[in-house]
Amino acid sequence: MPRVYLNGEFMDQTHACVPVMDRGFLFGDAVYEVIPAYGGHLLQLGAHLSRLEASLAAIRMQNPLTHDAWRQVLETLLAESPGQDQLLYLQVTRGVMPRRQHAIPNDIPPTVFAQSSPLPPVPPALLKKGISAVVLDDIRWARCDIKATTLLANILLKEEARRQGADEAILRRDGRITEGAACNVFAVLGDEIVTPPKGRDLLPGITRDLVLELVCDAGLPCREAPIAADRLAGAEEIWITSSSREVLPVTQLDHAPVGSGEPGPLWQQVRAGFERRVDRLRRGEETP
Ligand code: PDD
Repeated sequence: MPRVYLNGEFMDQTHACVPVMDRGFLFGDAVYEVIPAYGGHLLQLGAHLSRLEASLAAIRMQNPLTHDAWRQVLETLLAESPGQDQLLYLQVTRGVMPRRQHAIPNDIPPTVFAQSSPLPPVPPALLKKGISAVVLDDIRWARCDIKATTLLANILLKEEARRQGADEAILRRDGRITEGAACNVFAVLGDEIVTPPKGRDLLPGITRDLVLELVCDAGLPCREAPIAADRLAGAEEIWITSSSREVLPVTQLDHAPVGSGEPGPLWQQVRAGFERRVDRLRRGEETP
């Protein structure tokens, strides 16, 4: 049974319990992070911990651990599966309240949880054929920049995509693309790679930033700018990015081919850059 971290202790997952009065359980009053690790090395840990800091500040919570303490917790969990690619999950809830009340109680200690699970390699078939997506109205709240555990809208959007026979939902708000139900979005429009700018309507994805860096390093033309939803169908390429799916091509949008209907040349270039980065990390040549 995998070991997890809960409130200062490492324990068997079956022994890790959270009281029913936890505000994370009753209200989704909690934030989280998902961090990939390749060959025992955490990818972009500093950026993930900075985003955690921002999510906590946005919900008026203190960070319960220092960055060094977080690193120690995550590296202890990683050490359980030496050398394996892992996905680290961490969550901070506002804690356990004496009775159910919306108002935030004073001085309750947060609940702090972390676990590590295997990060399976992206299936070769997806890299070869790409994934499908449908565009759906973004029904989420107005603070999608906070990495909150309250993911019901994302779950319903993902399920609607599945019902429509697609792998992912790409979301539209006020005529513009925001992001995916669990990923950020890039589009190749004309001769430019475009991704929506950061703001309250999308999560500032860590993989998004990494891909922007790779695109820049490769000298490709790139812009953070709004994407009109009605331009997406005419994109030469569409990509999604996330910590668990890395950077994947979307080759079908709303049941029609994107560009040639195959993963595009710019995606191939960026994917190769991503793989080189991960290889360097595995060899311990990257500072996290
Ligand atoms: N989700 N946007 C949303 C809504 C997300 O849920 C995610 C990631 C991203 C990509 O962010 P990053 O590159 O930092 O992983 C964008 C994670 C993987 C999850 O909830 O499991």
